[in-house]
Amino acid sequence: MLTQEQNDRLCRIGPRTLMGALFRRYWMPIATVDKMREPGSVTAARLLGEDFVVFRGKDGALGVLDEFCIHRGASLALGRVEECGIRCLYHGWKFGADGSVQDIMNLPADKRPPKLRASAYPVVEAGGIVWTYLGPKEKRPPFQRFAFMDVPEDQRVLLRVDTHCNWVQMIEGGLDSSHVSILHTNAARPDWAGAAAQAVGAMNDTGPSLEIEDTEFGYHYAAFRRGSDGANVRVVPFIMPFGRIIPGGALQGKSNFTIAFEVPIDDEHTATYSVRYGSQPISLESRLKETGYDDPELYSRESRKFLFTRGDNAKQRRDIMDQNWSGFRGIAVEDAVIATSMGPISDRTRENLISSDLAIARFRKCLMDSIDRIERGLDPVGVGFDVGLISAIDAAAPEDQHWRALVPGHHAGVAA
Ligand code: FES
Ligand SMILES: [Fe+2]
Repeated sequence: MLTQEQNDRLCRIGPRTLMGALFRRYWMPIATVDKMREPGSVTAARLLGEDFVVFRGKDGALGVLDEFCIHRGASLALGRVEECGIRCLYHGWKFGADGSVQDIMNLPADKRPPKLRASAYPVVEAGGIVWTYLGPKEKRPPFQRFAFMDVPEDQRVLLRVDTHCNWVQMIEGGLDSSHVSILHTNAARPDWAGAAAQAVGAMNDTGPSLEIEDTEFGYHYAAFRRGSDGANVRVVPFIMPFGRIIPGGALQGKSNFTIAFEVPIDDEHTATYSVRYGSQPISLESRLKETGYDDPELYSRESRKFLFTRGDNAKQRRDIMDQNWSGFRGIAVEDAVIATSMGPISDRTRENLISSDLAIARFRKCLMDSIDRIERGLDPVGVGFDVGLISAIDAAAPEDQHWRALVPGHHAGVAA
């Protein structure tokens, strides 16, 4: 249980908040490359409660600027994209991707005000995602290169899904191992309602025991389940401040992984960027089907929005719940429905955590410790770490060694 003040500190990420300062020390996804492929493309993008414009100049280079024109505030998302820059429709000011003011159409050339500049942010394209860094220039870390970015394009699929809820409830759902064989009963324990199919792996054990160890990038949790063939362990990394890697395991294929980033759009909206990747080719269609986002009632492929809103319970199929645990189809849909059902910002003054929620409590501590580190002039945990080393696994629990040996990039944590 948190106090209201602690909950606000955990959840709110605007420019003048402590959590906002923490997030602004990492590279963040701001858009997907598929919407920005063509030279001349432009989109408005909200990130951490602030508004930006992302554009690709006719020269092919990407730029990220504050959305509102520094002259009199028109949206540059309406602007004309030109050779290496974007021009505001209103009075024709032109800005380079570096924020330089290159032309002012409504002023004689000899009257140009000196030293005006738009706020511009660095950009990297990687793994199908446009990344930017919003923090202080002198603190900018090297770009983090995750393993999925080096997987051939036909062996990875990126989905972006925007939900109407705070980012914390999305990631806390992702780090909550015990719900997997309950909320996702139909995928994990298809035999529950008498069907012939077997439970997946050790998923019949609905009360996994958890162990957690801090690492240089966040932590690893290990969830142990007892199955008929012995004990199984799922080791999942939490990657500061908003990421995790889910091993496919028996549920989604041993050579598959999903990396997910819960990116705060603002305090009440989250963009989940998830990339499913592995050693086999994978299509967008199969990924949409697996997640449940192939249902146009629940997900718009055009706007990337999750269409279930709190209280929208008519979308739940109560008529099939004797055979379908949740009344929804698809693991990711079930997760997003639950997070949305908690309201825009979950009220943690009323929760009651138990030992199964160990990873949730540690997640909060991790973030609070790093806020503390910033206040002491230290870098937050994970900044500068080689994230390409981070892995996840779903496997038989080893009898003769510690579970951390299953994840070679473990890197035991720094003291808070
Ligand atoms: S508001 Fe953009 S040029 Fe005037
Ligand atoms: Fe889930």
